[in-house]
Order: sequence, then structure tokens, then C-alpha cells
Amino acid sequence: MRVTVVGSGSWGSAFSRLLVHRGHDVQVLTLTRGEAAQLNATHENPHFLPGLVLPPEVRFVALGDAGLEGAGLIVYAVPTQAVRQVARWVAPRRPPGSLQLSLAKGYELGTLKRPTEVVEEETGGGAAALSGPNHAEEVSRDMPSATVVAAADEALALALQEAITSDTFRVYTNDDVVGVEFCGAVKNPIAVAVGMSDGLGFGDNSRASLITRSIAEMTRLGMIQGAHVATFTGLAGIGDLIATCTSRHSRNRLAGELLAKGASPDEVEKEVGQVVEGIPTAYALHDLAGRLGIDMPVTENVYQVLEGRRTPQESVADLMGRRPRKERHED
Ligand SMILES: NC(=O)c1ccc[n+]([C@@H]2O[C@H](COP(=O)([O-])OP(=O)(O)OC[C@H]3O[C@@H](n4cnc5c(N)ncnc54)[C@H](O)[C@@H]3O)[C@@H](O)[C@H]2O)c1
Repeated sequence: MRVTVVGSGSWGSAFSRLLVHRGHDVQVLTLTRGEAAQLNATHENPHFLPGLVLPPEVRFVALGDAGLEGAGLIVYAVPTQAVRQVARWVAPRRPPGSLQLSLAKGYELGTLKRPTEVVEEETGGGAAALSGPNHAEEVSRDMPSATVVAAADEALALALQEAITSDTFRVYTNDDVVGVEFCGAVKNPIAVAVGMSDGLGFGDNSRASLITRSIAEMTRLGMIQGAHVATFTGLAGIGDLIATCTSRHSRNRLAGELLAKGASPDEVEKEVGQVVEGIPTAYALHDLAGRLGIDMPVTENVYQVLEGRRTPQESVADLMGRRPRKERHED
């Protein structure tokens, strides 16, 4: 199948490699002509995916020079806040019947829409979401990983499962698009919180307590949004949460460490050098939880730190000083 991957960052690069190995004809769209020329010449992406040589079959084209003729699948591998702009570009060019897949994890600021909602709104076509414990650094080195493709339309999910599954990348389908995209978004600010705990010098007890209590708040907000409870214990839920909160690859966890050491959010983004979805998502969750009247102590503390209203130390005091309560989250 002809596939166009929009976005030549770390996940777009790793995913394009996976697609080539599955026998697809892949073009990757870059933001600039300079990037396309450099990537075509070297097939290396040292800023986003250092140390990896991409297959020679991947063609890089600048977005401004590209078309979508013959595309059977369009993959959105850009930060969540860029999905609408890309979908607007895709809309008039998309071949009828082409499949769409979002790899983005977050909520659009302002509208608080999920990436597939944005794609569907702009293009008028259905879109699936792919989410799970899938660090690009590991997928691109063929380390076994599993993931979820979520779509309301079962035929779309099955077609994508068939197109993507390989002997190192195992794809499950799920019809809970709300839950899968919700979990993929929320785990990022939680990883920022865990990174802050690590950065403050705390240990395994603090990390495990934070992750576990985050599952409670994640479930609280997700269920109200219509997520299925089983999704929280699946790959896109706990699976991705564990990977993101404990990995040395996680830039959201690293962002938390830097915040704990006194960096500002701008300094953090500069230092990390790639999108840190946990930052906009903390703002989106602050809005979403506020609108729905849901208590989200962990992600709200991340928001307060990002806003400069609380230091990481003060947020620890806030979390530890909450009124005593029963553990079960329905209480
Ligand atoms: N990196 C991972 O391991 C990973 C895994 C799963 C999901 N994701 C999700 O995938 C999305 C992309 O992440 P990433 O890690 O590849 O980010 P990244 O920062 O490495 O790369 C983002 C890429 O998008 C491009 N881009 C930005 N705006 C664009 C626009 N308007 N048009 C075209 N290209 C544009 C950038 O130039 C860059 O090449 C995020 O939502 C992230 O949460 C990442």
C-alpha cells in the first residue's frame, strides 16, 4: 500500500521504517525542504532518532512540495497541536477511501478535542488512533512491542492491524477510541509528575505511589468521558503509563526532572528539543477537569508548577497533605 507519514520526528521516522519493513511504499512529509534534502541524502535523523539508519526506500518530501496521489493510508505523526493544520492540508488532497491513522497523544488546546476528532472534523473521513508503550527508540531497533489501534469502525481497525502488525510490533484492536486517546494523553503529565519526584531525589516508593494514585484520577475523568474501564488496564492505559513513567527514553519524565531542578517550562522545551506533550496536556486537563468538576490532584499539581504558582516541593506538600480518605476511587 502507498502510505504517507506526515511528520519526520522520532515517531514518524521509526514508524516509517516499520511500514517499509511491512512492504509498504512510504513517503514521509517534512516541515521544510532542507530537512527533506538532508534526510534523502543520509537517511539518518540525528536530532530526532540518533544512531539509526532509515531504510533507503523511505522518500522524504517537504509538505509544500508533496501530494497524496494514490495514498491508501495517511499517518499523522506530528504534535497534537499541529494535527488540525496537517488535516486541513490533507482534506482537499486525500484520495477517496484512504485510511487515516493518528499517532498523536494529547488534546487540542481550546477545543479540548482528541486528535482523531480533529482529523475527522477537518477531512470528513474516519480516523483511527494508535497508542501503547511504544518508544520510537525501541521500536526502531526491532525490540518487541505491542500496541492498540482504536477505531469505532471495526473494518478500519482490522485493516490497520493487518497493514501494521509485524513479528516485532504486535497490534491489538480496540473500539474504545475515547479511552485509548484519553489514556495516551493523560499519561504524559503524569510522567512529568513522576519526573519531578525523581528530580527531587525521591525513590521507588514515591514513584509507585504517584503512578498508582494517578491511575485512580485517570479512571475518574476517563469514565466520565465515556472510556471503557478495560482500556485503563490495557496497553494504551497502564502499559503506556508504566513505559512513560519509568523509561530513560521518556522526554515527559525528563521534563519533570528538569522542572524539579528549577528549569522553567520554556527552558525545559529547549533542553528536550522535541515536543513535550505533557505540558500542553496538563493545561488541557486543567480545563477539562475544571469543566467537569473532577478532582485531578496529580495532573493539577503539574499544571500549577508549569504556571509558576507552586514549586515542585510545594506540590509534594499539597499531595501529601490532602485529607485522609479510603483507597477505592469510587469513595
Ligand atoms: N516519540 C515516541 O516514541 C512516540 C511514541 C508514541 C507516540 N508519540 C506521539 O507522536 C506525536 C509526535 O511525536 P514525536 O516524538 O515524533 O515528536 P517530535 O518532536 O520528535 O517530532 C515532531 C515532528 O513533527 C513535525 N511537525 C511539527 N509541526 C508540523 C506541521 N505543522 N506539519 C508538518 N510537520 C510538523 C516536526 O518538524 C517534527 O519533525 C506526539 O503526539 C507524541 O506524543 C511519540
